[in-house]
Amino acid sequence: MRALGIEIEKRNAQKLHNLLVGKRLLNGKLKPLHANEKVIFALLREPNAHEKLQIVKLNAKISKKDFEQNIQKPRSLREALSAKLTKSELQHLISSFDVLGDVAVIEIPEGLEKRGRLIGKTLIELNPGLKSVYRIAGAHSGEYRTQKVELIAGKAQKTAHYREHGCIFEIDFADVFFSPRLSTERKRIAGLVKPKEAVAVFFSGVGPFAVVIAKKQPLAEKIYAVELNPLAHRQALDNIALNHAENEVEAIEGDVNKIAPKLLKGKCDRIVMPMPKTSEHFLDSAFIALKKEGGIVHYYHFGPTENPYAASIAIIKQIAQKYGKKIKILQKRIVRPFSASTVQTVLDFKVY
Ligand SMILES: C[S@@+](CC[C@H](N)C(=O)[O-])C[C@H]1O[C@@H](n2cnc3c(N)ncnc32)[C@H](O)[C@@H]1O
Repeated sequence: MRALGIEIEKRNAQKLHNLLVGKRLLNGKLKPLHANEKVIFALLREPNAHEKLQIVKLNAKISKKDFEQNIQKPRSLREALSAKLTKSELQHLISSFDVLGDVAVIEIPEGLEKRGRLIGKTLIELNPGLKSVYRIAGAHSGEYRTQKVELIAGKAQKTAHYREHGCIFEIDFADVFFSPRLSTERKRIAGLVKPKEAVAVFFSGVGPFAVVIAKKQPLAEKIYAVELNPLAHRQALDNIALNHAENEVEAIEGDVNKIAPKLLKGKCDRIVMPMPKTSEHFLDSAFIALKKEGGIVHYYHFGPTENPYAASIAIIKQIAQKYGKKIKILQKRIVRPFSASTVQTVLDFKVY
């Protein structure tokens, strides 16, 4: 494209660039030309007399040149789709998505279903590390808390290879529960575990809490990972091996409420309970698995945004009383918003 340009020796180019930006003269949509130790910047307009004086002082020359367009990569999915979707479609777009290695999982809201393929393809163009984009095709459901997904762009894949906190996980994401959004929690909990502690991770899925704990606290006495879904349990075994955590983590397949009284009774210093939907049904097991002298429980739950902790605290107190124990809340925090009226919370409490 032909436009007014300004030519300068390379060694003075930065000074001129600063001047052009300051005076709003630089045409950033056109690529600067480079030749024979000179740089030529494209201008947005003819400089005025005063500006010309400053330009002359820098030994720069103005003349018309042919420039190429500076193709700027969009910075976000929304920006990349801004010319491809209608205004109302853009308003409904949910531009956040989860990344599991080279697989992205995104929610396509109602009304945008027909645009799924376009959204998926654009996501891959924007993130060259991605090979597949799946859309969420249903909420987490069933005993195994799995989520239906459908391929919308790229190649079909069964297993994602996901890295977190120096660990690697293989995840058959359509057949097991996994959420990268709990990554901060995994790091937090792992940072609390002390040497010689015996830890039980209830509802351990493909093993992320247990493996991250083992990696961050290799002096833990044992980390028990209890999971009901046979496929998730098998993948936990693979992930334990992949991360060389066989000495620290023992994966147990089965129902927490059956495993705790049978295999974990009185053995644990710390229990992690990352199943917010129904964790209250497993509080007995937590009290049973803790050592006689007590320990610490990390209790995940959903609560109303207005008063998120009250119901959890009430039930914990009730169960503690049943076992003749006292509790002390060590920390309470919101893990993430879940819906307009609900948040996911975690309560760390001491049992004594
Ligand atoms: C919300 S997911 C948490 C998974 C894992 N902790 C993570 O962070 O990825 C709940 C997990 O608990 C498992 N689960 C459900 N009921 C269970 C039970 N009674 N005993 C053991 N595991 C159970 C499900 O199969 C699922 O993998």
